Formats: sequence, C-alpha cells, structure tokens
Amino acid sequence: MIKPGKRGKPFRQLKLFIETTAGMLRAGGRMARVLPQGTKIGLSGELGAGKTTFVKGFASAYGISRDAVTSPTFTIINEYAGPPRIVHADLYRIATDDDLVRTGLYDTDTGSGFLLVEWPERFKSLANYLDLFLIFSIKKDGRVIEVKGRKEVLDRMADNKIFERGKRAWL
Ligand SMILES: Nc1ncnc2c1ncn2[C@@H]1O[C@H](COP(=O)(O)OP(=O)(O)OP(=O)(O)O)[C@@H](O)[C@H]1O
Ligand SMILES: [Mg+2]
Repeated sequence: MIKPGKRGKPFRQLKLFIETTAGMLRAGGRMARVLPQGTKIGLSGELGAGKTTFVKGFASAYGISRDAVTSPTFTIINEYAGPPRIVHADLYRIATDDDLVRTGLYDTDTGSGFLLVEWPERFKSLANYLDLFLIFSIKKDGRVIEVKGRKEVLDRMADNKIFERGKRAWL
C-alpha cells in the first residue's frame, strides 16, 4: 500500500509479502526488470530471511543460472559478467570499516550493472552509497520485504505494479 507521509512529507514505502521460496525468486526477477541499471541495493535482515534467494531470482532475470549464484559469505564478493554486470557481496563476516575498504567493494566496477550487498546495516558508511534498501524479515507464514529508497525509484516500482499478484502481494 502506498501512503502519503505524515505532514505531507513525500515518501513511499512498499511492503511485499512473499509466501514461498519460488515467490522470493520471482520477486527478485521482477525487481531486476524494473530497476534501472546502475542501482546499488542493500539487502538487510536476519539469517535465512531470503536475501541470497532474492539475488538468485534477480540474476536469473538476466540469464544467469540460479545455481551459479551462491552465497558470498566466504568469498565476500561474487561477480557475474552479464551484461549487465552483477556484483553480489555479503558483509556478514566483515568487522570494521578498514576491512570493508580492503574487500575492494568500493573499487568494484559495476559499470552500468547492479550491486547487491547483504548485511549493509553493519556499516553506516554504506547508507549514502546504496540507492535502495530491502529489509527482509521472517514471519510465521512467509517472508516480508520492506522497500525503502529514493522516491523516484519507489515510484517506478509502484507504477509498474510489479509485485501485484492479487491483494496478498501487498501488505
Ligand atoms: N518465503 C520464502 N522466501 C525466501 N526463502 C524462503 C521462503 N520460505 C522458505 N525459504 C527458505 O529460507 C532459506 C533462505 O535462505 P537464504 O540463503 O536466501 O537467506 P539469507 O537471507 O541470504 O541468509 P544469510 O543471512 O545467511 O545469508 C532458503 O532455504 C529458502 O528456501
Ligand atoms: Mg545470504
């Protein structure tokens, strides 16, 4: 549901309800098709919430096999040539800002491609670097993704109605 912000302040917030793993793959694919290339995305939320599953769906929209997309928990950064180039990072094991710089994340050339970063909330410095934040949570009967970001980006998603699949897709 899209609501006007309090006191007329423009904001948009989308919440998606995703019942199954297949639904999460679809959500990733749909978002991949509607987001402009170059978008840098943060994926936050507890262990097992579906962040990597979402990235599999996202990458498969650009012809990258789901099986080729594995969790970068140990590699920290995985890259897929594309086009578009897709860079997938997982900062769960990164402790300090210096360590983050040493991962090379900021030097990674995503060109006109996409960056998807799991566990960005561990680093305040990423707040301004990323364009869009997806906050995943585990519920009794599925997962919720809360989408936060610049108004233009959210407007584009809402206008495309990409997640509308019956009323249950919207919270
Ligand atoms: N509705 C759902 N959406 C997404 N995943 C689901 C759902 N229901 C069950 N699952 C399962 O939950 C698991 C999610 O794992 P995934 O690796 O995507 O999580 P993650 O958020 O990347 O975790 P981590 O923080 O450890 O990297 C998968 O095994 C997936 O099949
Ligand atoms: Mg993961």
